[in-house]
Amino acid sequence: MPHEPYAVEMRGITKRFGTITANRAVDFALRKGEVQALLGENGAGKTTLMRILYGLYHADEGDIFVDGQMADIRSPRHAIAHGVGMVTQHFALVPPITVTENIILGYTDRFNIDLDAAHNKVAEASRRFGIAIEPRALVKNLSVGERQRVEIIKALYRDAKVLILDEPTAVLAPQEADELFESLKRLRDSGLSVIFISHKLHEVMAITDRVTVLRSGELAGTVNTAETNQADLAKMMVGRETFGVTKSDVNGRQGDIALRLEKISALDSKELVALKEISFEVRTGEILGLAGVSGNGQSELAQVLEGTRPSTGGRVSANGREITNAGPEQIMATGVGRIPEDRHESVVAEMTVAQNMALEHLHEFVRRGMLDKKRIRAHAETLIEAYQIKARPNDRIRTLSGGNMQKVILARVLERNPSVIIVAQPTRGLDVGATEYVRQKLLEQRQRGAAILLISEDLDEILELSDRIAVIYEGEIMNVLPAAEADIERLGLLMCGVSV
Ligand SMILES: Nc1ncnc2c1ncn2[C@@H]1O[C@H](COP(=O)(O)OP(=O)(O)O)[C@@H](O)[C@H]1O
Ligand SMILES: [Mg+2]
Repeated sequence: MPHEPYAVEMRGITKRFGTITANRAVDFALRKGEVQALLGENGAGKTTLMRILYGLYHADEGDIFVDGQMADIRSPRHAIAHGVGMVTQHFALVPPITVTENIILGYTDRFNIDLDAAHNKVAEASRRFGIAIEPRALVKNLSVGERQRVEIIKALYRDAKVLILDEPTAVLAPQEADELFESLKRLRDSGLSVIFISHKLHEVMAITDRVTVLRSGELAGTVNTAETNQADLAKMMVGRETFGVTKSDVNGRQGDIALRLEKISALDSKELVALKEISFEVRTGEILGLAGVSGNGQSELAQVLEGTRPSTGGRVSANGREITNAGPEQIMATGVGRIPEDRHESVVAEMTVAQNMALEHLHEFVRRGMLDKKRIRAHAETLIEAYQIKARPNDRIRTLSGGNMQKVILARVLERNPSVIIVAQPTRGLDVGATEYVRQKLLEQRQRGAAILLISEDLDEILELSDRIAVIYEGEIMNVLPAAEADIERLGLLMCGVSV
């Protein structure tokens, strides 16, 4: 049988950033008419490899072949000319103008385009590719999912034969992700080749034909999806068996209300209503998961509870004491621990690990009016050992990896045995090992009897850890369900504002 050339082939790709080798001698081959996953943990080198293919980076070593011919791809313009399109994690659309104008933009050199004809062409493309968009809509009025569809049509409109999607479902609700998957399958069946970057195993299993796994910048292997499973893929990703965490029963230990919100309202940074009369409570020994698509009020709620954003109405109490609009120190004093969304903001980058660990309770490290450096260091050594942190007390905290920085923050909060813990996006950007560690720690705290509010955009995390699940949509709580009644489909509908 004659060998049909690959749609794209990358051979021996190496890319260095200073001392980091993001890709090391990576081989990657994409067949025509297949959906292939590029799977790997955070930092494995997936985005780098695809940015090379799309001409955003240039490889230090290695070659690219398109349709069997060596291709010198030095810019996205070259990539597009070779039929390679990419939808990046951050969209490159212009919000104040229409969908059509965005799609045509940069494509035509003519200044006076016939807009009616252009709208018709975009509508025709939308029909042909089976991806619904409204040509005349202004991009600024579109949801994230709709913007993503515009980016996909934009690539297809430029005759892409190869479509690269970088973690496309990260910004989508489950139903929107399903719609995307259906579109991708249709596109594949019409002959397009798709590269689907992801670190989510179930997605990869659901829609791809083959999977290429990167680990620490190197190729771990390429396998047929039909001949593998999630456990094997996970092993290839991290180079060892993973187990996940298991939630033990704390029946009977769930008790008193430790955190209570009554009709809390608040504005966002643009002075628009972000939270509308939010009410729920969290009991001791319970994890309440707050699920929602990014940007539906989660950050503002966390800030209100941490004392960094005022509420415009309602009451909050912790351990029976009112903390409505109290400051962070006052809130901490009532036994509330907080692990904020942006870990870089909760540490002082230029200070050492030891200083950061002592920061929130400096008065405890004062001796005869002076900071007791020995005690600060000893305290850090104890926590570093207890939390298996890969760092020394005198390392600047900014040099730590995300996982180790999060462990420092966890250690600092958990050593106080807080009775209420407010934690936001605790594993965002962490690798599988660190993620497991952080989740295990949260479950230990629940076992100890802490009341935990877990704010997370990772639905798998919410389902794995929560006893009850609240869903937030446009600043309102849609419903609060026992975890046993919350399947992915129901949560997905609630996350889109559909009452079920
Ligand atoms: N522009 C850059 N400058 C310096 N380092 C980078 C740059 N882009 C990526 N890296 C590093 O290269 C490695 C691989 O990153 P990336 O390709 O983004 O991984 P992934 O997409 O798999 O999460 C990481 O260690 C990352 O910090
Ligand atoms: Mg990436």
